[in-house]
Amino acid sequence: MTDRCSFRCVYCMPREVYDNHQYLDRSDVLTYDEIARLAGIAVGLGVTKVRLTGGEPLLRREIGTLVSMLAEIEGVNDLAMTTNALQLSKMAGDLVAKGLNRVTISLDAIDDAVFKKLIDTDVDVSVVLTAIDDAADAGLGPIKINTVLRKGWNEDQILPLAEYFRSTPHVLRFIEYMDVGTTNQWVVDDVVTAAQVAETIHAEWPIEPIEAQYAGEVAKRWRYADGEGEIGLIASVSQPFCGGCTRLRLSAEGSLYTCLFAGSGTDLRGPMRQGATDDDLTEIFTATWVARDDRYSELRGGVAISDPKVEMSYIGG
Ligand code: 5AD
Ligand code: SF4
Repeated sequence: MTDRCSFRCVYCMPREVYDNHQYLDRSDVLTYDEIARLAGIAVGLGVTKVRLTGGEPLLRREIGTLVSMLAEIEGVNDLAMTTNALQLSKMAGDLVAKGLNRVTISLDAIDDAVFKKLIDTDVDVSVVLTAIDDAADAGLGPIKINTVLRKGWNEDQILPLAEYFRSTPHVLRFIEYMDVGTTNQWVVDDVVTAAQVAETIHAEWPIEPIEAQYAGEVAKRWRYADGEGEIGLIASVSQPFCGGCTRLRLSAEGSLYTCLFAGSGTDLRGPMRQGATDDDLTEIFTATWVARDDRYSELRGGVAISDPKVEMSYIGG
């Protein structure tokens, strides 16, 4: 939706880089009509799930308008958004009315000081916790909570987060810190592995693995043996799942990316603004997807590969 964000998470949009960054010009960003058109073409090729990401999608003006345009496309049966939730409390009701089905909320700490340090922005963690409640009340629950762990920063938050969300319908998902982009100075030693998270939680509240809900599900599901809900572990570094990946990403400026770690995408905005027909665009989608052989995470082997890669804030999670 946008390459901008209202937070400056240290591992995603470090202040030193993003406070003085050349963001996309408004005229380079796809309009809602253009996004809806491309979504319709993707759905024509079999896509059924659409997720709005950023940057921070709620920064796009009147995002509800786009949500209703997408919800109207026949074949979109799951319309979701990943957000930092800063502006979600006031918008949740409208987004549901416009057809949004679900939200995933990023939250890396429960402790206010740790939270502020990670987002590097003066927002209280209570704002996000309240937004989670408000979003659930508005009908967006159960909510997925994304927690990225970075060693030395927030592994002490594993148990407090687990405790907070245990016994709620929300599903806390711990994501291994990945070498997305080039600005976060990733090294494998910064990764807290899914196995370490499982062990930490298991020692406090025993957990057991459960079946995937669908093919290509990236989170490994675990449930608390005492019946107090489930968690997800996304082992993108220690157990890559490239082979099962079915995601196609469209950047804010209209390029298709077949991998989170790609260096470049396939431009759709240019052809679209030069008058390409739906058939022409369908052709580009198909050619891009058929040519895909991405398996970056499987090849990485614990070492960041330093080719140019797009940033997470540009391509979405
Ligand atoms: N590794 C893992 N997850 C990341 N996110 C952002 N950057 C990274 C990274 N380097 C997460 C955000 C958000 C989702 C879109 O991706 O925390 O929840
Ligand atoms: Fe913004 Fe999300 Fe990146 Fe944090 S992780 S800076 S909330 S886009």
